[in-house]
Amino acid sequence: MAQPPSNVRIFPDREAACRSLASELAGLIRTINSEGRNAVLGLATGNTPIPLYQELIRLHREEDVSFERVTTFNLDEYLGLGRDHPESYWTFMHRQLFDHVDIRAENIHIPSGDPDDIATHCAGYEQAIRDAGGIDFQLLGIGRTGHIGFNEPGSPSDSRTRCIELDPVTRQDAAPAFGGLDAVPTHAITMGCGTILEARRIGLLAFGEKKASIVREAIEGPVTPQVSASFLQKHPDATFYLDRPAAADL
Ligand code: PGA
Repeated sequence: MAQPPSNVRIFPDREAACRSLASELAGLIRTINSEGRNAVLGLATGNTPIPLYQELIRLHREEDVSFERVTTFNLDEYLGLGRDHPESYWTFMHRQLFDHVDIRAENIHIPSGDPDDIATHCAGYEQAIRDAGGIDFQLLGIGRTGHIGFNEPGSPSDSRTRCIELDPVTRQDAAPAFGGLDAVPTHAITMGCGTILEARRIGLLAFGEKKASIVREAIEGPVTPQVSASFLQKHPDATFYLDRPAAADL
């Protein structure tokens, strides 16, 4: 492997990557809180960030890291799923993180899967991010389509929070969790690429050999709406946290 770019960090395993990022986030929260304001974190769902959330919970329990002055904005939610659905990202985030730390309920933002009016809801989500002062750190995973959030191939770099049709590959990857493809929603609400790229700092986690080829496209391929993660090449402070299998094609 040639020397990877300086914004690519390769760890022996996912736990090591997540320990490193969790400690960075704890430092960021403390620094921003000491300036007298809430730290604003953009959060992600999926299998990838689970060890990160476990480490953040450990830091909260054992090392006094507090989420009292943390405001969060999640990337996306499946359209058609209410909060109480077992596969909603609302449920995921509460089970994996929020129920185990001292975050205030009013500081949690996740797009609604069943809004009265989609356009109004999406505009309101963008406004809430602006009202919070913008996102200090945006956490991302990457789908096999190259999506960040649910920005499937074809998503422009200036896209905003909106409803999107899920790519067949994304729905296939979600099928086991839903007990079959037919149960997987066809659409989602997602922050846009433009929304994500406005975050002051971005960290993308990718683990496992199944992500190796799309990770290579995102880091070394052309910057293109066909691979929305490739837009991170243009961001001044975006870092990839990879395990060795995910970095194998670099
Ligand atoms: P995963 O999903 O973490 O479950 O692999 C990543 C994504 O689709 O963004």
